[in-house]
Amino acid sequence: MKTIFRHPGKSIAAKLIIAIGALMVVLTLIFWYAILAKQQTDIMSIAVRYGGSFVNFTKESIYHSMLNFQRDETQRVLVTLSTPEGVQRVSIYDHKGNILFSSHKQSVGQVIDKTSVACKGCHTDPERSPALLQEPQKWIVYKNNQGFRTLHTIGEIPNEPACYTAACHIHPRNQKILGFVDAQLSLAFLDEALLRQGLALTAYVVIFVLVVSLFLGVIIYKIVSRPVGVLVKGMGKVASGNLDYSVPIKSSDEMGVLAQTFNSMIKDLKTARDQGEKWTQTLEAEIAKKTEEIQRTNANLIQTEKLASLGRMAAGVAHEINNPLTGVVTFAHLLKKRFPEGSTESEDLAIIIEQADRCSKIIKNLLTFARATPSEKGKVSINEILNRTIFMVQNQEKFHHIKFDIKLEDAQLIIVGDPSQFQQIFLNMFINAADAMNERGRIIVATRSIMENGRPYIEIEFTDEGQGIKEEDMPKLFEPFFTTKPVGKGTGLGLSVSHGIVKHLGGYIKVNSAVGKGTSFFVRLPLAEGENEKNTGNRR
Ligand SMILES: Nc1ncnc2c1ncn2[C@@H]1O[C@H](COP(=O)(O)OP(=O)(O)O)[C@@H](O)[C@H]1O
Ligand SMILES: [Mg+2]
Repeated sequence: MKTIFRHPGKSIAAKLIIAIGALMVVLTLIFWYAILAKQQTDIMSIAVRYGGSFVNFTKESIYHSMLNFQRDETQRVLVTLSTPEGVQRVSIYDHKGNILFSSHKQSVGQVIDKTSVACKGCHTDPERSPALLQEPQKWIVYKNNQGFRTLHTIGEIPNEPACYTAACHIHPRNQKILGFVDAQLSLAFLDEALLRQGLALTAYVVIFVLVVSLFLGVIIYKIVSRPVGVLVKGMGKVASGNLDYSVPIKSSDEMGVLAQTFNSMIKDLKTARDQGEKWTQTLEAEIAKKTEEIQRTNANLIQTEKLASLGRMAAGVAHEINNPLTGVVTFAHLLKKRFPEGSTESEDLAIIIEQADRCSKIIKNLLTFARATPSEKGKVSINEILNRTIFMVQNQEKFHHIKFDIKLEDAQLIIVGDPSQFQQIFLNMFINAADAMNERGRIIVATRSIMENGRPYIEIEFTDEGQGIKEEDMPKLFEPFFTTKPVGKGTGLGLSVSHGIVKHLGGYIKVNSAVGKGTSFFVRLPLAEGENEKNTGNRR
């Protein structure tokens, strides 16, 4: 609405209102002028007719007094005729313009003005009589000094046999016209009525124009301006990026169709944009995934390289120790045979043999772990590897004050993979648990087969009573190099490498932790269908 008044050049409604309004004003003015003019001519023709009648009536009234040459009577009749309101003056004059009788007594005997209608109505030139006009003009209207108009009507008094045979013999036979009756009738009443009518008509016209303009304005605003405004607003919103906007026009005309088309266009646009955004998101997610995979591969490589060199070194040392240890055991056995059964020496030697056996077992485990055959895939018993790893760590000082609570499922849980990789995962879990508990407390190790999303999985649980993991550290756990341990103690690669291995096998690692209470890691690995059946078979 504001645009209509502030910037009419920018508003369709304003242009329509101005154009239609201007046309209406011009047509109404023409109509108004035509009515007024027609009224004026109609009323004048009636007035002229009445003027003519009045002249004829005057002629009839004075007929007898004129014929009988009763001059006083003629004069009296004229005075009587001029008494009604509106009759200004009635006069009779002869052909030469001498006023013979008049209701205005003072003008009797005077000569009329030669330029008046009385003369000019018939003669082309009143001075050069008898040149006559084709069509005599018997009336004229002029304004008197009070501003009102007066109708001046002339009627000739023709010569008749009764006149030239009358006793007075004043008029000869060949005289055609004896004189003229001149009636001056006031048009003041008519002028007043015309003025009132003109004013009323003007008022009606003004009211008509105003009412029609108002209605026109309201109709144009409702039908054109408002819907167009709503559409313009909608376009503005859409241009500024709001594609959830829809235009609320529900009419069934062209505006409604336009709004509907606009709305469905915006819907299509939104769908296209959402699709674009989705693609971008998918692309971003894909890039992030690939980046993570690259990072993980890189970290894996580092870890593998580290473990490989560590393993090579450990294997060398283990070999070196194994030979003297075999010597120790052999000679201890020989020495034991020399002492009688049950003697103190024999019992001491039995302890030496037992401890040496334990040492060789540890070395054997170390050799298995450090075997320099990365990614050697085969069927692996999870329980077996767990037992072996637990045995290995239990013999380390770090775990001397840690109790292992082992709840392994009876069934053989077989997975196809590299045993050294599983050992790596489990070892890291135990070391992390021991670190979190300051090397004192209880670790629960459990295995079980579960179903998830209709698929069989092996779940390996590692629960400790340690310090737990802070909420803000949770998302970073599996990032390579994320560690909260002091320099030299943690590399931040353990979980990241474990995650890579587990994911490669189609599994995942789940974490539950409560700060100050403890942490549970659940390694879930998918069980191949065939293996599952075998496992179940074994269980039977
Ligand atoms: N059982 C656990 N209890 C508490 N925190 C843990 C546990 N396991 C892992 N974490 C946290 O995750 C981090 C990353 O572990 P990891 O990837 O094995 O690297 P590192 O052991 O070298 O620090 C650890 O530094 C520790 O903060
Ligand atoms: Mg670790």
